[in-house]
Amino acid sequence: MNLNRIELGVLESNTRALKLYEKVGFNREGVKRQSIYKNGKFVDMIMMAILKEEFTENYKNTTKGANSLLNLYCIFKIQAFDEIYKVLIDFSDAYTPALAEKIPNLQDYAYKLYCNAEVFAAADVSVLGFITFYANDRKSKISYITQIAIKPKSQNKHIGKELLDLCIEGREGIGLDS
Ligand SMILES: CC(C)(COP(=O)(O)OP(=O)(O)OC[C@H]1O[C@@H](n2cnc3c(N)ncnc32)[C@H](O)[C@@H]1OP(=O)(O)O)[C@@H](O)C(=O)NCCC(=O)NCCS
Repeated sequence: MNLNRIELGVLESNTRALKLYEKVGFNREGVKRQSIYKNGKFVDMIMMAILKEEFTENYKNTTKGANSLLNLYCIFKIQAFDEIYKVLIDFSDAYTPALAEKIPNLQDYAYKLYCNAEVFAAADVSVLGFITFYANDRKSKISYITQIAIKPKSQNKHIGKELLDLCIEGREGIGLDS
């Protein structure tokens, strides 16, 4: 939908996710201080975003897709409510704390995603990772990435990067480039 801006928030302690977001071009814009209570203490949330103007020719020209060919997985859109719910349950433990702890009613959350968000998954014989983002604000053209998780055995294989690339690029008509 020709987005102008994609936003997300990440806990300061989640260095792996921070590095990934910086790698794909997100910039740090601010800190929501002591925003989340985790493991007995308050933790800062780093707010990050990428703008359409930062989505450079250079970024567009980098090789995409080779990794998925090499690893034999495909990326597809999840459109059924029960499949979204299943992915949330399956990936709950990939998060610390678990998603089910953070969001007690995963079924309601799945329904909200089903109605309003885009959900994409990377899968071989099973789902290896997923991303969810809102791209439905036609006025502001701002997208919000709300979840991304990769199964532990499939991490560090650039699957997270590919899912973010899909959100940032114009693929499926929703990124910064459509
Ligand atoms: C964060 C997460 C999605 C990353 O997915 P991934 O598929 O493993 O990441 P990628 O393999 O695409 O890595 C891309 C880049 O991220 C960075 N990165 C990934 N893993 C890293 C690690 N363990 N340490 C430091 N940097 C790391 C690197 O810069 C890497 O690029 P490079 O290998 O070319 O240097 C994954 O670790 C995850 O599912 N974590 C649990 C859920 C979570 O925290 N989600 C984010 C909530 S904000």
